[in-house]
Amino acid sequence: MKTVTTPEEVRAFTAALAREGKRLALVPTMGFLHEGHLSLMREGGRRADVVAATIFVNPAQFGPTEDLARYPRDPEGDAKKCASAGVALLYTPEPAIVYPPGYQTWVTVDEVSKGLCGDRRPGHFRGVATVVTKLLALFRPQVALFGEKDFQQLQVIRRLTADLELGVEIAGQPTIRETDGLAMSSRNAYLSPDERRRALALSQGLFEAQAAAKAGETKAAVLLARVRARLAQAEVREDYVELRHAETLAPLEVLAPTVPGRLLVAGFLGKTRLIDNVAIALG
Ligand code: PAF
Repeated sequence: MKTVTTPEEVRAFTAALAREGKRLALVPTMGFLHEGHLSLMREGGRRADVVAATIFVNPAQFGPTEDLARYPRDPEGDAKKCASAGVALLYTPEPAIVYPPGYQTWVTVDEVSKGLCGDRRPGHFRGVATVVTKLLALFRPQVALFGEKDFQQLQVIRRLTADLELGVEIAGQPTIRETDGLAMSSRNAYLSPDERRRALALSQGLFEAQAAAKAGETKAAVLLARVRARLAQAEVREDYVELRHAETLAPLEVLAPTVPGRLLVAGFLGKTRLIDNVAIALG
């Protein structure tokens, strides 16, 4: 595996691939890699000839009161993990390379960025959309892979690639979970043992609501109450619990047989904010 830090080095690598007629898969990340990221890289290897990954803790997607400075980092461990997952090129630029002095171009995606994390983290999706657009423009991969755990992010990225006609396939991949159901996240590293135990309320609430829908419950209010009850029991402070249309992210009052639903939750354990979501459909 080759590790590079400048756009020129990336372009030299991708130009060589293009000459050889090889397909490229890209996995953008912010590092502190876990099995969720590695499964994206392995899937990239099944979908393309060569896999590239990026590690960049993107300052533009953190708000002024958020955890940029304490975001967990492990550059050496991450490099080893990328190599073991079949990554051929790892791009780890410094912030001044991505946003040099005088930088002033931003990508905003209107509707799907609204509500959910978009409201709670103002400017977050502008930062995500901008850096992902820059990475897709730089690498020009045939396919880019993202986890469904960040479901609103995935819809924002799908929308921007379609609207800007970037000609890249966006492959959303299922959330990878710990054996007890907790969605894998770099932020899980912040949890104390007690918070880690209580964090299970997010996935358990979602799974219970999912089962209720399978058993015929259609009303959003009832399904959301199931999740809220779990959060309250575990003393997880709710940020949001919402039922949305899985593609447009429009709010849903009821589940209907032909409408793809997504149930999304965000909650705080101490200072740590976790998110999770599941597909939800009538049985
Ligand atoms: O999901 C992430 O890790 C980040 O939001 C992404 C997509 C790499 C953009 O910085």
